[in-house]
Amino acid sequence: MPYVADMRIMTERMPSDPTAIPDAETLAGLAGAIPGLMGDLRSDHAGETGAVMIYLGILAGARSARIRDFAQAHLATERQHLAQFAALLPLTQRSVLLPLWRVAGWLTGFLPALIGERAVYLTIDAVETFVDQHYEAQLRKLPAQGPGCALRSLLMACQADEVHHRDEARGANMAPAGMLTHLWRWLVGTGSALAVAAARRL
Ligand SMILES: [Fe+2]
Ligand SMILES: [Fe+2]
Repeated sequence: MPYVADMRIMTERMPSDPTAIPDAETLAGLAGAIPGLMGDLRSDHAGETGAVMIYLGILAGARSARIRDFAQAHLATERQHLAQFAALLPLTQRSVLLPLWRVAGWLTGFLPALIGERAVYLTIDAVETFVDQHYEAQLRKLPAQGPGCALRSLLMACQADEVHHRDEARGANMAPAGMLTHLWRWLVGTGSALAVAAARRL
């Protein structure tokens, strides 16, 4: 499909920068200066783990070539995000609930994929809308100058990728929004918010 091919090219043009990872010393300094930073990063790592699993769930459930291309392209980006947060966050700081986020993520992709293309696009639109706001809230806490610059670059690059994923899903889903659509969006947004709140602490 020409549309999907174009979108894959766009995804490849907008990768998050793999060099923008602060070293451990810088991270420790930032964590001392910015309350809640480690919890935020724990939730980022957990969220990117869930994102990878969402696309693996879609690929397990979808038969449509268009959806599979969409999921493969996004999966590559989410794996890159996860690798960056894994390189950043010490093992001792990771969420103890990672197995739960993996299962929840996989189901969040697999179940809509069983329903069809529109359900997948709607889910990705809802998830990425939440993730955009999640990164935006963190960026507001980081100073624009100083030792937090590398972390700021990483978050901004990830946010740009997520916005691109959201817009791609939204552009592909031409179905009018009904009550079920609003309900599903609310469920995905609320579930994501609860997961982030838990991952910040555990
Ligand atoms: Fe991501
Ligand atoms: Fe994404």
